[in-house]
Amino acid sequence: MLRQALLAASRSEGVRRLVERAPVTRDVVRRFVAGETIGDALRVTGELTGEGLLVSLDVLGEDTRDKEQVEANVRHYAELLDRLGAMGLGPRAEVSVKLSAVGLTLDEDLALDGARRICAAARTVGTTVTVDMEEHASVDATLRIVHELRRDFPDTGAVIQAYLRRAEEYCAELAYEGSRVRLCKGAYAAPEPVAFTAKDEIDKSYVRCMKILMAGRGHPMIATHDPRLIDMAAALAVLHDRDAGSFEYQMLYGVRPQEQRRLAREGAQVRVYVAYGREWYAYFMRRLAERPANLRFFVRSLTSR
Ligand code: FDA
Repeated sequence: MLRQALLAASRSEGVRRLVERAPVTRDVVRRFVAGETIGDALRVTGELTGEGLLVSLDVLGEDTRDKEQVEANVRHYAELLDRLGAMGLGPRAEVSVKLSAVGLTLDEDLALDGARRICAAARTVGTTVTVDMEEHASVDATLRIVHELRRDFPDTGAVIQAYLRRAEEYCAELAYEGSRVRLCKGAYAAPEPVAFTAKDEIDKSYVRCMKILMAGRGHPMIATHDPRLIDMAAALAVLHDRDAGSFEYQMLYGVRPQEQRRLAREGAQVRVYVAYGREWYAYFMRRLAERPANLRFFVRSLTSR
């Protein structure tokens, strides 16, 4: 119930204004968001890569319904990639892109064109793009666009949300040589007919999907903070004789940072998803929805002033 309410609030203009105006919101947001500018993102990327971690940078802003804003978002990614390249961070830091930020809500071809330009900019600095997965209604269009992008940019990462009832089918289709696939549980509100909604069902689906990806020939990106699933991924890597370079763990900036470093120290590839920008509201609310303790932390900080 609480999760559904927070996810509904993540789409509400009224609640957004309230949360953004709360006096301490920015301090709490900083736990999950690296800052507002490219400079902030590059500083955090430098720190994380200096500690042996990989990074995927997400420019906050989604559901863009204005062509000029779409163009501004594409140019922002191009500038970010250019500056990553200039700092020599290209190979260790990639970008994650939400298609709704590059026009998917307006027109599929517009989004494909924007994503293609970002992939081209990434290639110039020797790095990759992963296409985030958003609301369930956009899954088919997102997979079509990833498929198109992979014709020219075969290293484009796809994302599968384990809560989708069709997740196993998607994983089986994507477990081919060279295919980079991020497996996550799913962060949006999705209805029963298309998605599992009970936690144990989602977790079981995650395990089934992970087995398919780890047994396959692609490059699985195990995106979870769940300790049991992380242990299981390690066991599956041994079972399928995968070396550390053939898969990676992924976690969000600000969530289980010690675990990120522990895995990296043990020789695993660990990529931290670093979101930055001014449009942090929806991203932040999804993080609160994931864990009641985060909400308690937020409310306590509001009342302790
Ligand atoms: P779960 O929520 O069950 O948590 C397991 C444990 O992890 C908790 O018990 C707690 O210990 C810890 N934990 C989890 N979340 C925490 C938090 N916010 N704060 C503190 N501790 C926390 N989703 C999506 O729909 N599309 C996408 O493209 C992506 N992309 C993506 C990239 C990466 C790198 C990650 C890690 C996640 C995503 N997600 C996503 C989000 C994902 O779908 C999911 O909502 C979150 O990862 C939380 O799920 P967990 O697998 O961590 O399990």
